[in-house]
Amino acid sequence: MTETIRNRRIETLYPATEIAARNAALAEEIRRAGFVEDVLVVAVLKGSFVFAADLIRALYFAGISPEVDFMSLSSYRAGTTSSGVVTVIRDIETAVAGRNVLVVDDILESGRTLAFARQTIAERGAARVGVAVLLDKPGKRAAAIEADFVGFVCPDRFVVGYGMDAAHAFRELPYIGYVVDGG
Ligand code: IMP
Ligand code: MG
Repeated sequence: MTETIRNRRIETLYPATEIAARNAALAEEIRRAGFVEDVLVVAVLKGSFVFAADLIRALYFAGISPEVDFMSLSSYRAGTTSSGVVTVIRDIETAVAGRNVLVVDDILESGRTLAFARQTIAERGAARVGVAVLLDKPGKRAAAIEADFVGFVCPDRFVVGYGMDAAHAFRELPYIGYVVDGG
């Protein structure tokens, strides 16, 4: 399906129903992997906020009772490639030592953002750090990191919706789509 919003044509990649089903399956994978007791979800803002909101409710239905905190990271970009410098804009307020931490983000692309987040939390003494991403774009990896839990392996397109933006727009879309070139 294609629709025009803010004069851009958005082609659907993953409809809302498909995302919901995948979230339920992901929560089961997370439970089977042993993230059951003393779980702290760390959502990496801003892009993951919709995914994290749905995933924690899927975790509830999988019988997991996590705490939730938020971390805002910035990876400086020159043009379309990130420089590799990641800084903390807003840190979590929760202690992670000895806990099972699940880092949640929207997209794993170069991997620099998540490599930084995972290392930062591991250095603070987490018992275990798992990484859950909604989308994996494996072709663009620059850092040595793979996610433990992946919603969808995504084609190499600039995607929007379900929390993800293009120049601050389109976060409200209930589905994941991509902006059609020239649209
Ligand atoms: P990286 O893995 O450090 O390169 O950073 C991935 C981050 O870049 C994601 O968390 C998003 O915030 C952003 N990003 C990468 N690809 C896209 C896209 O297709 N649409 C929207 N944001 C993206
Ligand atoms: Mg992000």
